[in-house]
Amino acid sequence: MTEPTSRRPVYLDCDTGIDDALAIAYLLASPEIELVGIGTVSGNVSAAQAADNTLRILALAGRGDIPVAVGSHDALARAFDGGAEHVHGGNGIGGVELPDTDLTPIAESAPEFLIRLAEEHAGRLEVITIGPVTNIALALRLDQSLPGRVAAVTAMGGAAFASGNVTPVAEANIWNDPEAAAVMLSAPWPLTLVPLDVTVENTFEEEHLAGLLAAEKPLARAVGAMLGYYFDFYVDLYGRRASALHDPLAAAIAVGAILPTNAPLVDVVVDATAGPARGQTICDLRGQRLGPVDQPGAHIRVVLGTDRPLDAHLLERLLA
Ligand code: BDR
Ligand code: CA
Repeated sequence: MTEPTSRRPVYLDCDTGIDDALAIAYLLASPEIELVGIGTVSGNVSAAQAADNTLRILALAGRGDIPVAVGSHDALARAFDGGAEHVHGGNGIGGVELPDTDLTPIAESAPEFLIRLAEEHAGRLEVITIGPVTNIALALRLDQSLPGRVAAVTAMGGAAFASGNVTPVAEANIWNDPEAAAVMLSAPWPLTLVPLDVTVENTFEEEHLAGLLAAEKPLARAVGAMLGYYFDFYVDLYGRRASALHDPLAAAIAVGAILPTNAPLVDVVVDATAGPARGQTICDLRGQRLGPVDQPGAHIRVVLGTDRPLDAHLLERLLA
């Protein structure tokens, strides 16, 4: 049985690539929440590689007490495609070799672990997803009453008005398992969707990278080393070496440190057909021209604007 915590208990589900690593480091440095468990899923890398990356990150941070469960290798409707080496490097963390660790994953699968944590922290557990959401869909299949024990879900994924980043309309986390995303989005829990519309507007630049590389904290230096790889990938998007802060932005919104300003509650459906819109998050943003308007009965908050940029806050926590 997990000890009760006065901080808000958080379960993180991730496919530990470079921005996932930044999000983990950020959550470890956030006093508002307690990371009570991490599940991994295939996306940027395999679920097994994501767990290995996560355990090495936790070891570097001296947080080997946080349990890590390996989740689904394959998506609901197709086999794992090998990951995103061109974005995150072959090992998912930009080729950076983190020190070996004796830490190992727990025996439970990530979906089983999530269900157990929701029972142990019933009504309080908050879920953050920063990868494909296969584990979340599997947990919902195993336990349909799960939403009743989860206080909030924050998911990095999708694109509302913005273009996709894998296809013209599909964002990577949704693209990697649209069937699972459809299950998660239709479950009756309060869900905040953090799409590309806002994540690509938040960047780390050369000066942030320099700050991380000069840090005293080993984990801050390590994520700095990883970011070099990510910066190269993003030259085509930004026209300069920089990086989008997808997963850390979702984490900071979940923590409550960055506040959504333009974030209406609207219906969202995922295209899970085999056509050209596969993986698209179709957000019903009709009627939003004069400002955010909540749709009656909707339970998904789509973040289209935030109160401040993430960069300075993220850097401060990573260096603390
Ligand atoms: C998302 O896809 C992954 O490559 C990133 O880690 C992030 O979660 C952005 O589309
Ligand atoms: Ca991710």
